[in-house]
Amino acid sequence: MPTESALPQPPELSALPDDFVWGVATSAYQIEGAVTEDGRSPSIWDTFSHTPGKTYGGDHGDIACDHYHRWPEDLALMQQLGAQAYRFSIAWPRILPGGDGPVNEAGLAFYDRLVDALLEAGIAPNVTLYHWDLPQVLQDRGGWPTRETAEHFAAYASVVAERLGDRVTQWCTLNEPLCSAWIGHLEGRMAPGLTDIKTAVNASFNLLLGHGMAAQAIRAAAPNAAVGIVNNLSTVEPATGTDADAAAARRADGHTNRWWLDPVHGRGFPADMLEVYGVDLPERAGDLATIAQPLDWLGLNYYFPAVVTDDPNGPYPFARQIYRPGVPRTGMDWEIDANGLEALLMRLTEEYGARNLYVTENGSSFPDVVRDDGSVHDPERIDYLRGHLEACARAVGRGAPLRGYYAWSLLDNFEWAYGYDKRFGLVHVDYPTQRRTVKSSGRYYADVIRGHGERTPRAA
Ligand code: FCB
Repeated sequence: MPTESALPQPPELSALPDDFVWGVATSAYQIEGAVTEDGRSPSIWDTFSHTPGKTYGGDHGDIACDHYHRWPEDLALMQQLGAQAYRFSIAWPRILPGGDGPVNEAGLAFYDRLVDALLEAGIAPNVTLYHWDLPQVLQDRGGWPTRETAEHFAAYASVVAERLGDRVTQWCTLNEPLCSAWIGHLEGRMAPGLTDIKTAVNASFNLLLGHGMAAQAIRAAAPNAAVGIVNNLSTVEPATGTDADAAAARRADGHTNRWWLDPVHGRGFPADMLEVYGVDLPERAGDLATIAQPLDWLGLNYYFPAVVTDDPNGPYPFARQIYRPGVPRTGMDWEIDANGLEALLMRLTEEYGARNLYVTENGSSFPDVVRDDGSVHDPERIDYLRGHLEACARAVGRGAPLRGYYAWSLLDNFEWAYGYDKRFGLVHVDYPTQRRTVKSSGRYYADVIRGHGERTPRAA
């Protein structure tokens, strides 16, 4: 039997409301595997990960956590942690293998069973429609840089909402469109691996247009749906007090935060950034209104802050992130700063008037060690978790309408270009055997959830 290490004190979370939702998150391509089963077609991530040199060690999601077959065991793990909600994504290529073609019943049936089992276990499903796995057939026809992809996305959203909308109420259109557009079409470090500013700006526009169209489609198919979008945001600070660095920080903020927040809040695309990118938007009359559909909730994925310096000869947006010596970092080399989470929650509340916020992802990767007895003790991940949960509570104390927190991730999984080298799970996965082991951080999270549930309800 693995020995159980003593866990540190629980965090100070008294400001969180009694009905605060405790969740865990995953995404389809990162965990499912079974890439050729039951009619699934390849996605851009199958193509990208099988292209030599694109991922760590050539890793790919062919098997991943084999969740497609082992989901009952993973559901049992969620129950063991006490999770009340599960954020997962649907693989578009399982539902419409032709991208816009006929519906693949076997694909829908998989998620149908999962949703039923979650509800039976008392775990609320929070469904993300797009977590980066565009059907390759649509990429072959131009992908996100083309408007048709936005239209196909809305049609796909409608199919899924019609099938699951009687049971699923929480819907997310896009996960982190920043990564799809900027990392996938400008930096080339993610699928589809392109590196062109005009292509990237077009992709960003059509992603947000697709979000708006999909929000309409979901609401039409499922009138009780609460629709949101999930962005990964960062606080941005200049490295020095120079004017050049201040301007760089403004550009980096535009690139990372405002470009994604302003249009969905009816403010259009930031004019200063259009100037920085130097390209026109592929905008048609009415598009900005479509993009600015009312949001029932807003999701924030937070991992690290950014400190930037002016970099006139570097890539867009000419602001380079610097690595400050002596600042604690995760195994991704990302700076650890829980105050950034608090600051972003306050910004979404005060500057964007958010009414319902969720932290839809937050977590850390560290090089876990499996001890001789099979246990995994991960005190650094516990510290990260505790610090960020306390930041959530501080934000709530200051008036942020934060309704829940989803830990990234339930399981160690395929971390995109980093392959299986980076582990974010509360549950360790031994890939050769697919054996799952709850880490100390998983037990800690379970304690937090249990403690919150048992506390004396506050006086009204
Ligand atoms: C986010 C992604 C998620 C995972 C975490 C570590 O950007 O949404 O899939 O890779 O980072």
